Amino acid sequence: MAGILVCGAQWGDEGKGRFVDFLAKDADMVIRFQGGNNAGHTVIHAGVTYKLHLIPSGILYGSKPCVIGNGVVVDPGALLEEIDGLEKAGIKTSQLFLSDRAHVLMPYHRALDAMNEESLGKSKIGTTQKGIGPCYTDKTSRLGIRFCDLLDEERFAMLTRQRTAEKNQIITKIYGKAPLDAEAIIAEYRAYAERLKPYITDTSQMVYDAQKSGKTLLFEGAQGMLLDLDYGTYPYVTSSHPTSGGVASGVGIGPAALTEVVGVVKAYTTRVGAGPFTTELSCETGDLIREKGHEYGTTTGRPRRCGWLDLVIVEFAARINGITSIALSRMDTLGGLDRVKICVGYELNGEVIRNYPASLKDLEACKPVYKEFDGWDANLSHIRAFEDLPASAKEYVNFIEEFLGVPVDMIGVGASREECILRKQYV
Ligand code: IMO
Ligand code: MG
Repeated sequence: MAGILVCGAQWGDEGKGRFVDFLAKDADMVIRFQGGNNAGHTVIHAGVTYKLHLIPSGILYGSKPCVIGNGVVVDPGALLEEIDGLEKAGIKTSQLFLSDRAHVLMPYHRALDAMNEESLGKSKIGTTQKGIGPCYTDKTSRLGIRFCDLLDEERFAMLTRQRTAEKNQIITKIYGKAPLDAEAIIAEYRAYAERLKPYITDTSQMVYDAQKSGKTLLFEGAQGMLLDLDYGTYPYVTSSHPTSGGVASGVGIGPAALTEVVGVVKAYTTRVGAGPFTTELSCETGDLIREKGHEYGTTTGRPRRCGWLDLVIVEFAARINGITSIALSRMDTLGGLDRVKICVGYELNGEVIRNYPASLKDLEACKPVYKEFDGWDANLSHIRAFEDLPASAKEYVNFIEEFLGVPVDMIGVGASREECILRKQYV
C-alpha cells in the first residue's frame, strides 16, 4: 500500500499537475481533497495541453478512478464544463467520482466573493473570484449545501430559497447590488443535479476500500503551503488546507494513509494575488522569468509576480507538511541567466532569521539574504540523468537538498511528462 501526496510548497502554481500526471501512471486512484476551481493545473498529455481546475489530473489516463473528495468545494456548472471539455477531447469521465459530502458552490458565493473584494478596495486579497472563500465560510457557519442535498429536490429548493433570501439581505443592504433570483438558481441547479447524479457517491468508502486492498493512492493538492488558511500569509490565503494535514479530513481516511509527501517546488517563486513576497523581483529579471515561463494564471490569466527561490518558505513548508521528497520544477525556465540567487534567510530588525514569521508587519520588514550561484544553459529538456545536468545546475539542486535535508527526487527540465529527471522509484 502506498499513499502519495503531491502538494505545493510555495504560493501555488508550482507545477503540481505535471508531477501528478507523471506519478498517476503507477497509481490506482487519484484524489483531490481541498480547494475548488480556483486551482488551475496545466498538464501536457500525449502532446495535448489540458487545463484542469476541479478534476484530478489522473483523468487523462481514462480508466483510473478519480475522486473529488468531501473537502473540495464544487461549482457544478464549472465541473460540467470541464467534463464536457474532456469528453469532447475524447477523454472518458466515467471513472470520476464526487463526494456526496462535498459542498456545492452557489451563485451567491461567486457574487459575494466579487463584492467582498470590491469593498476591501486597496486591501483586497486578489482572490480568483470563483466564490471559494464564501462557500467555505458557509460550510464552517453550518449554512452550506452539500451534494447529497442537491440530489434531494425538495430539500435543495427549500435550502436555496432560505439561503438566497439571507444572502440577498447582504447583497442589497450592504453592497447595494441587485438581489439574486432563488427560483432561477433552483432551476439551473436541478439540471446540474440530473447530469451529476451518476458521479455522486460516498467517496470516503471507495478510498477506504482501495486502501484496504493495497492499492496505490495519489492525493493531488491544489494551491500551496503559503496559501494555507492556518499557516499561509493570512489573510492573503485561500480558505482551505492545501497542506498534508488537509488530506485526512478532506478525503475521510486516517492520516497513516500517507506514506510519502512530495512537495513541489518551482526553481524560482511566483505568486498571484496580493500579500507579502520577500524575494519578489520588481525589475527586468522578474519580467524575464514571467515571459520565459509564461507565468500568467491558468484560472484568471493574471500576470504572476515572480522572484528568486526562497528556501525560508520551502523549509517552512517541509516542516508543516512533513515533506519526504521534493519535486523541483522549471529548472529549464530558470536557465539562461548569468547568475541566480537563492534566499537562505531574512534580515529582520538587524538579525538574520530562518523561521517564517506569522505577523504581516514583520514579513513586510524582512529583507532577503541571498546566496548566489552561476547560471546554466536553458536547454535542458533532453536530459534524463542528474549527472548530465550542467555543473552549476547540479550545484543549485545539491544546495537545496543540503539546506532542507530533504532529497530532490524529481527535476522538471521541460513542460511535457517525459521531460523529467527521476532519481527515485516511488511505487
Ligand atoms: P493552483 O492549484 C496560485 C490565490 C489567489 C489569491 C488567494 C485566495 O493552480 O496552484 P481564492 O480564490 O482561493 O479565495 O484566492 O489564493 N490562489 C492561487 N494562487 N495557484 C492557485 O491554485 C491558487 N488558488 C488560489 O490568487 O491570492
Ligand atoms: Mg495553477
